[in-house]
Amino acid sequence: MNKWLTALSVILLAMVLAACGSSDNTENGNADGDQKTLKVATESNFMPFSYQSKGEVVGFDMDILEAVMAEAGYEYEVENLSWEAMLISVEQQDSDLAMAGITINEKRQEMYDLSSPYFESTHKVVFPEGEGITSGEDIKDLKVGVQAGTTGEEAAEKILGKNANNLSKYDSNTLALMALQSGDIEAVVTDNVVADEYIANNPDAAVEMIEDPETFESEFYGILLPKDSELTDEVNEALATVIEDGRYAEIYEEWFGVEPNIEAITQ
Ligand code: ARG
Repeated sequence: MNKWLTALSVILLAMVLAACGSSDNTENGNADGDQKTLKVATESNFMPFSYQSKGEVVGFDMDILEAVMAEAGYEYEVENLSWEAMLISVEQQDSDLAMAGITINEKRQEMYDLSSPYFESTHKVVFPEGEGITSGEDIKDLKVGVQAGTTGEEAAEKILGKNANNLSKYDSNTLALMALQSGDIEAVVTDNVVADEYIANNPDAAVEMIEDPETFESEFYGILLPKDSELTDEVNEALATVIEDGRYAEIYEEWFGVEPNIEAITQ
């Protein structure tokens, strides 16, 4: 072979390799080079995890989502739905995943995939100042409000009884807190950090809250995906990396002003 032919074949080989490289696009860390934009569902009545600010959905969950999607190499768009519609949309695979302070529990694990935990939570009771509630059991005979279809509903039903007459179920957490404010109900059971945030942001609301670790168990939030989704492993890997490399702690500190207890979510 003369040297021109050799040079030509080297160039051709390089071109072939380059072509392979771009069809197997690993630049985005996504093995099949699939550039599809993921559909992410949320329910944005859950400050500080998912809420509206200046016409946009923001929150701790949205920042974790951004980091995980960047790590996994996916573009995504967020669709804001009602809680129930969000769950259905993932179940029917209209959405690729959902993030909205969603607790990992067995019932959901039967119908969905859930990622590994990214946040530890428990429940608190929010009630008008001076009502004298000191434990979860104290709400047994009160008019209690919860968001329908949440673990707060389950926690309240453990105390009041399933579908108890004195339990009102609202479509959103915001509606439950508004009912408390207007005096329709006497207590709300909701996720602890959401209760903290509500009280911090509404100093004039004249409400207080209690924590009761004996009554309310600890639980963990995860990313919700359709059952047996191909994305579950990728999402878990990306989440693990984001936790390991410190991006998680950075986001956590931005939102909560303290360092996260990484052990609690990775144990
Ligand atoms: N963590 C609770 C649950 O999973 C409540 C979540 C409510 N989230 C929301 N975006 N409204 O049931």
